[in-house]
Amino acid sequence: MLIYVGRSLRVPASRVYGVATFYNFFSMKPPGKHTCVVCMGTACYVKGAGQILDALETKHGIKAGETTPDGGVSLVTARCLGACGLAPAVVFDGEVAGKIGTEATLARVAPWSAQAQDSVETVGQP
Ligand code: FES
Repeated sequence: MLIYVGRSLRVPASRVYGVATFYNFFSMKPPGKHTCVVCMGTACYVKGAGQILDALETKHGIKAGETTPDGGVSLVTARCLGACGLAPAVVFDGEVAGKIGTEATLARVAPWSAQAQDSVETVGQP
């Protein structure tokens, strides 16, 4: 793909690669079926976005920028969504949710990944 774009734009593939890896919204890996974007801008961070991100990473066994092995969820971070008055803000498949807590975020994302559902079921069993 990088070579195709480079040829089409008549620029070296290395330059296309540089752009593709610089911007957050471009990815070299296929995205998951669903996307959860946690805003890590200053306002959201102060209001607990770090804890929300930590909980999502732990629950789904992935880091920000990764996709669950079942392809269900891509976890992404953003610098600021422009909705600081709603901090902390999380975007679920393009829908912004403001003033959201950790438990509510986990509940919204859990159905998207069989992996998370498995961990919920095993937690409740002796
Ligand atoms: S810092 Fe999160 S919306 Fe601005």
